[in-house]
Amino acid sequence: MKTYDDVVQGRRSIRGFKAAPVPRELIEEVLTLALRAPSSLNSQPWNFTVVTGAALDRIRAGNTERTLAGVPDSREFRKGEQYAGPHRERQIEIAKQLFEAMGIARDDADMRQDWVLRGFRQFDAPVSIVVTYDRVLLGNDIAVFDCGAVTNALVNAAWSRGLGCVVNTQGIMQSPVVRAEAGIAEDQVIQTCVAMGWPDESFPANAVVSRRKPITEAATFVGFDD
Ligand SMILES: Cc1cc2nc3c(=O)[nH]c(=O)nc-3n(C[C@H](O)[C@H](O)[C@H](O)COP(=O)(O)O)c2cc1C
Repeated sequence: MKTYDDVVQGRRSIRGFKAAPVPRELIEEVLTLALRAPSSLNSQPWNFTVVTGAALDRIRAGNTERTLAGVPDSREFRKGEQYAGPHRERQIEIAKQLFEAMGIARDDADMRQDWVLRGFRQFDAPVSIVVTYDRVLLGNDIAVFDCGAVTNALVNAAWSRGLGCVVNTQGIMQSPVVRAEAGIAEDQVIQTCVAMGWPDESFPANAVVSRRKPITEAATFVGFDD
């Protein structure tokens, strides 16, 4: 059994999966753990649609086709401005790490495009878990915060059982396709999806360890020296 530290320090996003299916019972076990996540006033606004097989393949195909055809992104959340400053620098850093691991040269437009398309295909994971929340809470930022909490709990719970995940907003780029193929009701807002499966250890990007800003930058301690 992995310790909490093993899970948190060892987890990383997985973007290459073995073809082997994931048993439904194991996904239920992981979701049971994730559902222990805290939420505002214990409101638990989240819901999950677990998709595999032909339905997931249709989502991959529709997502890819529509994006290549130039259909605008229809993700159901506000995106704000493009990242700048330190946020943009971190975005570039992780992209560089991934491209370097995959041997994708900076000027290799075809390979870069191939990588982006993998994202739209949810990295060909055998399972996608679409995270939604109750539409009656649309506009309430806490519901979105709660979805983040449960999604973090989900990826860590999966890792504790040997499964790999990547939280993948590319996978819901074309939300009408996801909604139709996964049968997601209109009373749900699609927040994100999590690609899940057994990690392919031979896939180079799976070895990438992303950096974190140090605690000296992230945390301020007040009153400790009084
Ligand atoms: C809300 C959210 C959306 C993400 N969307 C994508 C995505 O579309 N494609 C992708 O490759 N990774 C995506 N990621 C994974 C992040 O790139 C990854 O978590 C980050 O670089 C830190 O790396 P780690 O998960 O390996 O610690 C997303 C993560 C989060 C939390």
